[in-house]
Amino acid sequence: MTKGIPVKLRLTLGIAAVLAVGVPLAVHADTAADVKQQCGSCHALDHDYAKAAKHERAERKAPPLDFAGNKFRREWLYSWLQNPVRLRPAGVFPPAHAKPSADGDVVDTATLAKHPALDAAQAGKVADYLMTLTPFDALIAAETYQPGSIAQRMGQMNFGKFKGCDGCHQDAPDKGGVSGPELYTAWQRLQPAFISAYITQPAAWDPHTMMPVGDANAAAVHKLANYLKLIGEKQP
Ligand code: HEC
Ligand code: HEC
Repeated sequence: MTKGIPVKLRLTLGIAAVLAVGVPLAVHADTAADVKQQCGSCHALDHDYAKAAKHERAERKAPPLDFAGNKFRREWLYSWLQNPVRLRPAGVFPPAHAKPSADGDVVDTATLAKHPALDAAQAGKVADYLMTLTPFDALIAAETYQPGSIAQRMGQMNFGKFKGCDGCHQDAPDKGGVSGPELYTAWQRLQPAFISAYITQPAAWDPHTMMPVGDANAAAVHKLANYLKLIGEKQP
């Protein structure tokens, strides 16, 4: 099946779309090369952060994708790439998107760019390709997390009052901190073992992460993961 470049991609990918005019992504054999060309200007696609100076975190244009296959659920990637809604309410590096107001700093949403969207055929190919990026199979294999349940009230108190996750993360739309990715759709987005492994040891995934290590006790981490399951399953 041969198709032209969908209008949506042409409009949103900017300079990359211009380059792609003669070579529609949908019929391009080498998805890896396409992803490198169209996504690599913002996203890291191989794991080299450990070699870079720490201040690179402040300069990142986008979250790393080099371990996408150990992190995301394929179905989520496929649908989000077609309809990329915001995950980080204050952008990838929040201090860059803050503006002072009478109530303290607020997020200057005008400085947050819209993410390029792909059509279904492209999203399928790109999702398949991203799922092959799995440098951290060992971290996933070492996980003991078995999804379970937790009462809403207990989970919420644990996420907020006891563990302070709500200082940086939202557990419902517009509720919670904005310096990290929202977590009310984390269960739909992320592999359960990733959630548990990342909370336990964030720097093992990303040496310059802004995510602090909290209580790394397995039972405590699994409780938090169960809360993300509870709230994520309630999302549409
Ligand atoms: C102009 C820069 C830019 C380009 C080009 C770009 N992205 Fe992104 N991408 C971002 C930003 C910024 C975010 C964070 C969005 C948010 O959190 O709301 C993001 C987030 C993502 C996420 C979610 C990552 C996570 O850890 O939450 C995925 C998946 C993704 N992009 C895939 C792609 C793919 C595939 C391409 C190429 C077709 C691409 N992006 C091109 C800037 C870009
Ligand atoms: C000081 C702010 C802060 C606190 C407190 C915090 N986080 Fe995070 N967290 C982050 C940031 C920022 C990221 C993304 C990594 C980055 O951007 O460097 C993140 C990433 C995550 C992710 C991966 C989400 C994704 O889509 O990539 C999970 C899961 C997570 N945090 C859970 C938690 C839990 C559970 C707690 C409470 C124990 C917590 N966080 C406390 C800032 C925080």
